[in-house]
Amino acid sequence: MTKNNEINNGLIFEELEPVPRLLMGPGPCDLYPRVLKAMSSTILGQFDPHFTEYMNQVMTLFRQVYCTDNRWTFLVNGTARAGIEACLTSMIIPGDKVLVPIFGRFGHLLKEIAERCGAKVVTIEAEWGTVFEPDQIEQALVRNKCKLIAMVHGDTSTTMAQPLEEIGAICRANNALLFIDACATLGGMPIQVDDWQIDAITSGLQKCLGGPPGSSPITFNDRVADLVNFRKHIEEGIRPQNFKAGEGPKIQSNYFDLAMLMDYWSSDRLNHHTEAASMLYAARECARIILADGLEETFSRHRLSSTALREGLKAMGLKLYGDEKNRMHNVTGVFIPKNIDGERVRNEMLRDFGIEIGTSFGPLHGIIWRIGTMGYVCQKVNILRCLSSLDAVLRRNGFNGPANAGVEAAYGVYQNLEPARNL
Ligand SMILES: Cc1ncc(COP(=O)(O)O)c(C=O)c1O
Repeated sequence: MTKNNEINNGLIFEELEPVPRLLMGPGPCDLYPRVLKAMSSTILGQFDPHFTEYMNQVMTLFRQVYCTDNRWTFLVNGTARAGIEACLTSMIIPGDKVLVPIFGRFGHLLKEIAERCGAKVVTIEAEWGTVFEPDQIEQALVRNKCKLIAMVHGDTSTTMAQPLEEIGAICRANNALLFIDACATLGGMPIQVDDWQIDAITSGLQKCLGGPPGSSPITFNDRVADLVNFRKHIEEGIRPQNFKAGEGPKIQSNYFDLAMLMDYWSSDRLNHHTEAASMLYAARECARIILADGLEETFSRHRLSSTALREGLKAMGLKLYGDEKNRMHNVTGVFIPKNIDGERVRNEMLRDFGIEIGTSFGPLHGIIWRIGTMGYVCQKVNILRCLSSLDAVLRRNGFNGPANAGVEAAYGVYQNLEPARNL
């Protein structure tokens, strides 16, 4: 047997049984049990009328989640960056000028993807832990005459959320398009796609939507659809007779070609990829849960959970990271106390309590932990478990805060709520 094929411990033949964890990092997070159940439903053929009906339902459901009337609201198979790549590769014609305001790691990701699409990228940067004022963005847009702004809504790397209400209008006034990465905020914080004049926006299931990684719900308006159709080409093997290709340059990626995805998700049902059926079931269930609970109720559950967590952390004597006004509702940055080994604490939380909290990237690595309160995780029992475990582990690592203060402070936040919401 070659070295790479050696099976040295027999575990490979054991049934899959991952250890139970409480996922309180910046995503992925625990799944709603209903989503897991939906994913185990039987697979249907992609043109089965029952399946295409599910596809239509997914479009309807995510229009409501995104607060939009956009016809083009569907799933891109792949993690959140699949949706980002589909939009950027379809919207950017090589040579286009694109403005990327960066306030964390994921702004850098947008820059990198836009560059790969052949854009001339202009960036402005905000110090990590802060966001932009709208006029900073406007000035950069006007100065550089960009065709598109691509930016992140909530950047999990810094835990900051960029207010977006005014950015769409700035783009319209300057004849530019607005693309938003809402991977970490959809379902956790308000997003009004139509009211905020966002042209294209993408997300992933694995954060506030409470699903698994591997599907990216996206929506875009007719301004984007027109641009994409101007570049429309169809694969030869499925091209209808009399089809006339768009005049614009062919979209570089086949998999992420929005024009072909639109044909696939429209009543034309023109074959493209094989839809990831189990992921579609998952996405459908995530949206149904959130809409049945109500968007406002879901957002307030996220707000409540992060408030209880933050009050608890502060009471323990820990310091929160970042500009308070613009913190996301669903991930909290907290400074690792002096003389404490942050990775050791994280490892002990996982080993001894089964709780995963997040490390950090780039300039924040070793400086802050990131604790997520997303989707199904947003329950009182999880917040209290996290605080009491962190308290115990920190204490064993030599940190001397007031005993049990974190849990008590979180109890205080929950105390005055009506029983029904005190979950
Ligand atoms: C804000 C943001 N954008 C994009 C991504 C990339 O998502 P994925 O890993 O699902 O491709 C992440 C993942 O953490 C994120 O937080």
